[in-house]
Amino acid sequence: MHHQSTIYVTPKLLMHQSDALQSLMGLAMDCTVSLAYPKDARSDAQVLCKAHPFLSSCLQATEQTLFDNVADKTETFLLDEGIKLSFYCPLELAASPIITLFFHTLADAVSYIEAYPRPSEQLPKLIAEDAALLAQGKLVAFPTETVYGLGADAMNEEAVRGIFAAKERPFFDPLIVHIAQLEQLEGLVVDLDPRAKLLMDHFWPGPLTMVLKKHPAVPSIVTANSQTVAIRMPSNPLALNLIKASGKAIAAPSANRFAYTSPTTALHVREQLGTRIDAILDGGACTVGIESTVLSLCTEIPTILRPGKIGLKELQPLLGEVAMGKQAGPTDTHLESPGLLESHYAPTTPLYLVDDVTLYKDQSDVGVLLFEKQSVPFKGPVVYVSEKEDAEEAASRLYWAIRHLDTLHLRCMVGSLLPEEGIGVAINNRLKKASAKH
Ligand code: TXA
Ligand code: MG
Repeated sequence: MHHQSTIYVTPKLLMHQSDALQSLMGLAMDCTVSLAYPKDARSDAQVLCKAHPFLSSCLQATEQTLFDNVADKTETFLLDEGIKLSFYCPLELAASPIITLFFHTLADAVSYIEAYPRPSEQLPKLIAEDAALLAQGKLVAFPTETVYGLGADAMNEEAVRGIFAAKERPFFDPLIVHIAQLEQLEGLVVDLDPRAKLLMDHFWPGPLTMVLKKHPAVPSIVTANSQTVAIRMPSNPLALNLIKASGKAIAAPSANRFAYTSPTTALHVREQLGTRIDAILDGGACTVGIESTVLSLCTEIPTILRPGKIGLKELQPLLGEVAMGKQAGPTDTHLESPGLLESHYAPTTPLYLVDDVTLYKDQSDVGVLLFEKQSVPFKGPVVYVSEKEDAEEAASRLYWAIRHLDTLHLRCMVGSLLPEEGIGVAINNRLKKASAKH
């Protein structure tokens, strides 16, 4: 790296990942690592430095809240628990000039810093370049809060055809159209349902897709000949700015090969589609981690066609009665939403759902997905999807964990269903579809 950057590390990150600093140093970066803490946490930081004598030798403790004065912090990064990476990068459609990206490992966060040592300049430039590609009918993968999408200009039939080809997706499966501003609805939908407006006020930008009456201008390849169109406004600031800058509505399915696990990092996209598409905008790991809720407002009673983070509990107070779409059988292709196909989201290594994963503790060729802290030692590889039975955390790590186990050439992997409440409903839906049939 030719550039001198400073990485600030919070006491919390160090406390909860005591190996964090060592691995940062181990990555031989041409940068300074400093400890950042707000003034009122000074004593915590001092205690921490005493507990880790090596810290005091390699850390310069900064006595100010980082980004207090953002203008002169353009080449600094703040690494926090989680792992969150914050840096200065003002974007038009973002609430704050500080952008925060998430990563599953510290090494991923550091690789991002190595690739983009000056994000305040590089990120806006990349967004502009990728937006120009979209406007020219090219395919660009981009991060959303749910999963990475593979985008193309929704009004350009040829470009949309490219999405189906890259993914090897059958034409009967319609795409979601992504927008950055409400004005873009014009020309996409007709007779906008007042309930849709209410939901947009509450949940957009965010992980709710609505199936609405289609405007005749939307190419039928986007909607699989249906008279309805699925629309969503993602909340990820990179996605919003990319869509806005392209000047187009963007059709985007998840950026994976058809029926495989959805991608939640740029690397996932590169692995499956890298050579087939024109660009990938790297925005770290997706925070929600599973696909948006798909809600149809074209049925008599609003119907959840695909469960997601926004569930019955959030929707019922606004809509009254809400129905859950039926789970389809494996050969049923006449579906209201083809995403309801029974087998979907599947890794190559068979995944089995079991009541008690500890029964597999002695099998070294079985990978284990864990949703809670386990004291039992496992002979095979284990991935914590959540250590504290936190369903939202589990959702954000689920596909990453499945993909990780899928690279290890195991006989199979095992996991258990979560309690059927909140986002657990959506996680269970994906686990069931990703699992092999006994
Ligand atoms: O979170 C998400 O929704 C991600 C990100 C990229 O936005 N996108 C995504 O797209 O998951 P995809 O294509 O993988 O899934 C879209 C789902 C499919 O199940 C599809 O059948 C359904 O939405 N869908 C799309 N248009 C529809 C329509 N007009 N009527 C019913 N279902 C529709
Ligand atoms: Mg998909």
